Amino acid sequence: MIFPLFLAFCCFLASPLAQAADTLLANQTLRDGQTLVSSGQVFEFGFFSPNKSSARYLGIWYKNIPLQVTWVANRNNPITNFSAELALSSQGSVSLQNGSMNYWSVIPAGAVNEPFLRLLDNGNLVLSDASASDGSGDYLWQSFDNVTDTLLPEMKLGWNLRTGLKRNMTSWASEANPSSGQYTFSLEPPDAPQLILWKGSQKQYRWGPWNGERFSGSNEFKANAVFDPMFISSPEEVYYTYTVVNNSTLSRFIVTPEGAIQYLAWLDYQWTNLVTLQRDYCDNYGTCGPYGICYDSTVGNCRCLEGFRRNDSNPLDWTGGCSRTWNLNCGNGDGFVKYKDLKLPDNSRLLGNRSSNLEECETECLKNCSCMAFTRVDVHGNGGDCLLWFGDLVDMKNYPSGGDVIYIRMAKAEIDAIARAKRRRRIVIAIGISVSTVCGMLILTLIGQYALRRRKERRRAAHSVYRDSGDGGPEEDLELPLLDIVAVADATNNFSFQNKVGQGGFGEVYKGILPTGQDVAVKRLSLNSGQGLKEFKNEVILIAKLQHRNLVKLLGCCIHEDERMLIYEYLPNQSLDHHLFDPIRRKLVIWKTRFSIIMGIARGLLYLHEDSRLRIIHRDLKPSNILLDSDMNPKISDFGIAKTFTVENAGEMTNRIVGTYGYMSPEYAMKGHFSVKSDVFSFGVLLLEIVSGHKNWGFYHPDHDLNLVGHAWKLWTEGNALGLVDVLMEEEFPLKEVLRCIQVGLLCVQQRPEDRPTMSSVVLMLGSETSDVPQPKEPGFSAESFAMTTDSSFSVKTLNFSNDATITALQSR
Ligand SMILES: *[C@@H]1O[C@H](CO)[C@@H](O)[C@H](O)[C@H]1NC(C)=O
Ligand SMILES: *[C@@H]1O[C@H](CO)[C@@H](O)[C@H](O)[C@H]1NC(C)=O
Ligand SMILES: *[C@@H]1O[C@H](CO)[C@@H](O)[C@H](O)[C@H]1NC(C)=O
Ligand SMILES: *[C@@H]1O[C@H](CO)[C@@H](O)[C@H](O)[C@H]1NC(C)=O
Ligand SMILES: *[C@@H]1O[C@H](CO)[C@@H](O)[C@H](O)[C@H]1NC(C)=O
Ligand SMILES: *[C@@H]1O[C@H](CO)[C@@H](O)[C@H](O)[C@H]1NC(C)=O
Ligand SMILES: *[C@@H]1O[C@H](CO)[C@@H](O)[C@H](O)[C@H]1NC(C)=O
Ligand SMILES: *[C@@H]1O[C@H](CO)[C@@H](O)[C@H](O)[C@H]1NC(C)=O
Ligand SMILES: *[C@@H]1O[C@H](CO)[C@@H](O)[C@H](O)[C@H]1NC(C)=O
Ligand SMILES: *[C@@H]1O[C@H](CO)[C@@H](O)[C@H](O)[C@H]1NC(C)=O
Ligand SMILES: *[C@@H]1O[C@H](CO)[C@@H](O)[C@H](O)[C@H]1NC(C)=O
Repeated sequence: MIFPLFLAFCCFLASPLAQAADTLLANQTLRDGQTLVSSGQVFEFGFFSPNKSSARYLGIWYKNIPLQVTWVANRNNPITNFSAELALSSQGSVSLQNGSMNYWSVIPAGAVNEPFLRLLDNGNLVLSDASASDGSGDYLWQSFDNVTDTLLPEMKLGWNLRTGLKRNMTSWASEANPSSGQYTFSLEPPDAPQLILWKGSQKQYRWGPWNGERFSGSNEFKANAVFDPMFISSPEEVYYTYTVVNNSTLSRFIVTPEGAIQYLAWLDYQWTNLVTLQRDYCDNYGTCGPYGICYDSTVGNCRCLEGFRRNDSNPLDWTGGCSRTWNLNCGNGDGFVKYKDLKLPDNSRLLGNRSSNLEECETECLKNCSCMAFTRVDVHGNGGDCLLWFGDLVDMKNYPSGGDVIYIRMAKAEIDAIARAKRRRRIVIAIGISVSTVCGMLILTLIGQYALRRRKERRRAAHSVYRDSGDGGPEEDLELPLLDIVAVADATNNFSFQNKVGQGGFGEVYKGILPTGQDVAVKRLSLNSGQGLKEFKNEVILIAKLQHRNLVKLLGCCIHEDERMLIYEYLPNQSLDHHLFDPIRRKLVIWKTRFSIIMGIARGLLYLHEDSRLRIIHRDLKPSNILLDSDMNPKISDFGIAKTFTVENAGEMTNRIVGTYGYMSPEYAMKGHFSVKSDVFSFGVLLLEIVSGHKNWGFYHPDHDLNLVGHAWKLWTEGNALGLVDVLMEEEFPLKEVLRCIQVGLLCVQQRPEDRPTMSSVVLMLGSETSDVPQPKEPGFSAESFAMTTDSSFSVKTLNFSNDATITALQSR
């Protein structure tokens, strides 16, 4: 077994440190200027200076990417000149020295016979003994145990309980200074594991606790096509780690010098930040104080848990949190109230490692007067552990798309009050009470009695008395601020003409400024639009729950008499069609921007289809529904005709045909069948429009009657796909990337839905130049005259094709 390894060892002995060797042997040194390169040419180890500073550091970086350091040996001991050397002694000690000056060292415990230091293709620098009988199994030392600011695939963030080793991530001091910065991301404590970002001794952000399946409070890092996270909890080790599905995509976690935890991947020749763990204001640790819950829509949106009230009245400072309306009376009638959709609070403790049911957990918590809450999770894989909380409950967040359940201790008086309110509520709903004229109440009639009941429940903080089992079913919980008509009128200068910025699908759009200084876009739905009400409800219900940087954010709504308004974040660059189909502005949209718009739309759509809790088919994807922020980042908007689907009915659904010609898939336009694949079709059309700068519908070419999709296919089959590229684009572009885009675009517009890729494959194919892209076949709807030749049961003559307005009045049968 060890013979081949030993042979390799002999051969290396005969030669000095060769260029591009991956191993340093006993008695060899590594001088400044020399490097070790891993055998697959992935990583390189040697001396570097960050950002052309004069200080020298010994570290590991990616071999084929502009300097991106993943590990630093002497981060707090910079070398001031080029004369230090790394030496490996025949006893196996590693030292970075210049004469008497020692910058860094590793001294293995115990005797070592044939030491060698090797850089592996996963970025791990390992010290091993070639004579050790068990081969390469145990390393004497490895850089993966000495995490700096970067967590590579296969690295572990956590504890080895046997050796006491704790692996934390610590940020660089600044982008140009690798010395230990202010932020540390560490796993603790090992018995109810959660990950905490520290700034010195202050908690900044908390991810957890682990509930056996994921960390409470963010479900963004779940396994997907490229990324496979793992949390290991065994008697020996407790750690978080991850692997990537295909090693050819490079990726890493980092803690930035500013304290953001990011997951980056090398895509499109640059580091792309795929996820930042801290998403919003609510991710600041303890922002709403004890017993406060943070709602992530706007800054300062704290509320007390039901049964608690504010300690302070300052609306901006919630650090005082909330206190109980009724004090506990330990051992005399205290009970528990169930709360849902929460990020679990801090300071939990696991009750040993034994399988318990919910009643046992409750009994355990009742035993101790300082136990404030409990829940049941499955950390140890034994079926269920009790998680108990002692002391004040802090750092809770409303988390509708992946929150947890917790049972909180309450006085008997509170529990009785809840039961009474519940009974009353049933009566209220039964008689269908009329609603007051307050804006905030009117919406309830719109959304119906179901939502009325839900909102009332929310006003009691969406809880129910524990053991009340009649409370199953999906939760519908609207978390949307309701603005007063006066405030909205003020913000928009009384809906003045000067503030009008556009005409959306179902009404006019005004720019406004809230008293807080925030710019907003107010969509005022047409009074006479029969569809308006339905679209309004749909949009409010759907989008209020969505959070993604490529989706436009709904901030609130307002109802006044017949008026219905939606208040969005304001996006200064208007919609994509404004840029794409204007001969002047089009010139300014360079390829890099176009590509990032394509990627952004793809990611937003992927989120809608696969990642949001509500799985959503947008059904009306087109350039005028893509808004652009000040940096030209795309945001998908207009969810007026979007549909949710469940995993069970993820196949095709049939519906009234609504949408926009030119972007509709064949099966939808003809039969009313829609699925995620009909969105993929629209995305493909959009992609080809972005590449070419032409509209699909109304495309004109002197030589043929094809639409843009047909034209693209014709060019593709003639081997002239680049002929599609916008002639007005004023700069050079990477040919391979453009070709890959066109190929993906053609795949998305295939005739048969099953031939079209899913959005996750689209994101992969677009994002990585190494992924395989299948050959497209002839696309669907490549001739403009499709509608006249089909057997569909609607009459084309009733349609108005003159612009790309959304069609809503059309019935399919
Ligand atoms: C390293 O040097 C020491 C002392 O010069 C010598 O005893 C030893 O054999 C050398 N080891 C190797 C592997 O060359
Ligand atoms: C490099 O720096 C070390 C430590 O400061 C010093 O001892 C050594 O003399 C310097 N070497 C040169 C060539 O200046
Ligand atoms: C350290 O610095 C001195 C110069 O002061 C130089 O002569 C020596 O070679 C350097 N290198 C090592 C490995 O000590
Ligand atoms: C990735 O590389 C590691 C070694 O660097 C190897 O153990 C693993 O099997 C590889 N995984 C894949 C999917 O290629
Ligand atoms: C590991 O990292 C810590 C700092 O995080 C450092 O103090 C320590 O010396 C390192 N140990 C080794 C062997 O590199
Ligand atoms: C890691 O974090 C834990 C908890 O904060 C701390 O006790 C430990 O010293 C840290 N370890 C390192 C190497 O910084
Ligand atoms: C890198 O160095 C350049 C010039 O030396 C400086 O302008 C820039 O701010 C530095 N970057 C960082 C991150 O320190
Ligand atoms: C918990 O107990 C189960 C079975 O009793 C055992 O398999 C598992 O290893 C234990 N886990 C820990 C972390 O002690
Ligand atoms: C809130 O008020 C309660 C009762 O008045 C008090 O015990 C508690 O310490 C206060 N909490 C904070 C954080 O001020
Ligand atoms: C209640 O729990 C706390 C925290 O674990 C502990 O310090 C205290 O001794 C317990 N009290 C009783 C009566 O068990
Ligand atoms: C990983 O990507 C490379 C480059 O595209 C490809 O050749 C290889 O087959 C992929 N491996 C797996 C396991 O998918």
